[in-house]
Amino acid sequence: MERTKFYVTTPIYYVNDKPHIGHAYTTIVADVLSRYHRLLDVPTYFLTGTDEHGQKVQKAADAAGITPQQQADSTVVRFQQLWKKLKITNDDFIRTTEERHKKVVQAILQDLYDRDEIYRAEYDGWYCVPDERFFMEKDLVDGKCPECHRPVEKIKEANYFFRMGKYQEWLIQYINEHPKFIQPDHRRNETLGFLRKPLNDLCISRPKSRMAWGIDLPFDKDYVCYVWFDALVNYISAVGYRSDDLKFNKWWPASYHLIGKDILTTHTVYWPTMLKAMGVEMPETIFAHGWWLIGESKMSKSLGNVINPMDMIEKYGVDAFRYFVTAEMTLGQDASFSEDAFVRRYNADLANDLGNLLSRVLNMTVRYCGGKIPEPPADVLSGADEKAMWEAVQSAVQGMEKSVDDMRISEGLGQVIAAVRGINRYLEIKQPWTLAKQEDKAPLRATLYTAAEALRVAAALLFPVMPEKMSELRKALGIQKPKPDQAQLREWGILAAGTPIAEVGGLFPRIVAEEPKPGEQLELGAQPVKPKPAPTPAAKAETPVGVTELIDYSDFSKVQMRTARVVAAEKVEGATKLLKLQVMMGEEKRQIVAGIALYYEPEKLVGRTVVVVANLKPATIRGVESQGMLLAASKGESLRLVSIDGDLSSGAVVK
Ligand code: ME8
Ligand code: MG
Repeated sequence: MERTKFYVTTPIYYVNDKPHIGHAYTTIVADVLSRYHRLLDVPTYFLTGTDEHGQKVQKAADAAGITPQQQADSTVVRFQQLWKKLKITNDDFIRTTEERHKKVVQAILQDLYDRDEIYRAEYDGWYCVPDERFFMEKDLVDGKCPECHRPVEKIKEANYFFRMGKYQEWLIQYINEHPKFIQPDHRRNETLGFLRKPLNDLCISRPKSRMAWGIDLPFDKDYVCYVWFDALVNYISAVGYRSDDLKFNKWWPASYHLIGKDILTTHTVYWPTMLKAMGVEMPETIFAHGWWLIGESKMSKSLGNVINPMDMIEKYGVDAFRYFVTAEMTLGQDASFSEDAFVRRYNADLANDLGNLLSRVLNMTVRYCGGKIPEPPADVLSGADEKAMWEAVQSAVQGMEKSVDDMRISEGLGQVIAAVRGINRYLEIKQPWTLAKQEDKAPLRATLYTAAEALRVAAALLFPVMPEKMSELRKALGIQKPKPDQAQLREWGILAAGTPIAEVGGLFPRIVAEEPKPGEQLELGAQPVKPKPAPTPAAKAETPVGVTELIDYSDFSKVQMRTARVVAAEKVEGATKLLKLQVMMGEEKRQIVAGIALYYEPEKLVGRTVVVVANLKPATIRGVESQGMLLAASKGESLRLVSIDGDLSSGAVVK
């Protein structure tokens, strides 16, 4: 889509708690969209910030024994630091406790009050404390909050109300006439469903006697503004509404309000009716994405399953995290977060496909072309394989463009990775390692040049998602410009022959699952996974397996090995390295002394299955008889017991 400007917002997050991956997700998507549009030279404004008033923040402050402002000041830093770490390129960060915001909210309130869009009335009804929402008797479900199903409180007090109800018909019509206004479609239908019931006026005040942490109503100092009526205004107060017309006219209406599905009603019912009453144009699109679930459950503090993005970044890197969340979630649907899925996708897409392609191209350019981008034959693109591969890459260019327009970023990324796989396949078909042996080097140069050019385009497409890694990749290919030029996505022959390439360390080292620690095998559930670069072939070569003497099978078969189950274990007195184990080998009980005390705690061994050399002559070690030997692997400082993969009753023969 041709845009003359792009203005994207995230929700402003509550400062009652530190950020989690849900917050990180919305902000990363907004960042990817912003970076993409900036590359297209579309003037872009990206707004995020924090929602600092209201009961949630007040409660958190009370619990911490500090003022709500202190709560906000200390928590806002957590968000700001995370965004910095995640390479988020927001143009502004608005805090609702800032003067520039409060002023605008008060001006709006006064104006609406003066025009009788806001009125005072006695309220007699039900109130959901955690949701901070009022309900009429008829709205309750089984006497409970229709939103969160928690108990509600009876409340009777004077309050101020915004005449939201009178905009119901207008809103329904607006939504129907503007299919892009609420996206995806199922969310639009959800809002329309909500609007089938009569729309009540909105209580926009809180008496200070009950909850004082908010913006004062300019026309009644005994009240503060309801947090949502304050918060939503950030989208216009930040870009100059009632303070800087030039700026406001430049950026408003927003291209996208990105939100999670949890705050659909406030954004698609409250906000449009507020804007309508103010006489302000509607945003183009409110886009509600789904939830990140942990397994099947919602992330929540009480379930103790909240994922801290900082941990993921520290373990796997910023770009890998940005890539995973954008590639894994189909925008609009829920997605399940697990470290297993993370590792699987990382290894498949980034380590195997992309990282491998780059190291192949670089290695072969060094080995066969003196470390410089080779000069391709003039007609290189007339080769059938070259042509097909380049076309596949070009269709990924189109796919990515369309996927950004349609908010299907994960699909676009899927197409790019498919194209990368195509480049790898192209190399396998062409076999540059074989071509290198030919007298005529033209086919070799054509192949390596084509692969490098295609990789250049793929890297540019991935740039908004993985800015750091793709910068490294570009440098490796000898590209000087720090950012890709979108005009060059469709152009062939941008890489200049003769440019020296730079070798980079593994861009995406494979993540290998960590060996379970002693004892952990017994626990159910996921094994921890820790990133460890896989050994390179060179590293492997440094530790050759010393083959000293070959034996016959008959020699090997003399050794009888059986599985055994540890039933008891204790230290051997006076010997720091020895443990005395009682094991069951089938029906037979054995005592074994093993030099593993430095590596295993005796109590953690009980219940484990080990492998025992069963026909070893008994020996007495430190006065204790040992009827066999445990198998273990050791290297340097480490030692690990040999175990079997899965369940087998003890006494099984090992061969
Ligand atoms: O609602 N999966 O703030 P908030 C995906 N202050 N995204 C998630 C998520 C999850 N499990 N959990 C949270 C507020 N999010 C108000 C907003 S806007 C004027 C005021 C993301 O801190 C998602 O974007 O509860 C969701 O809408 C937002 O965080 C809610 O953040
Ligand atoms: Mg929330």
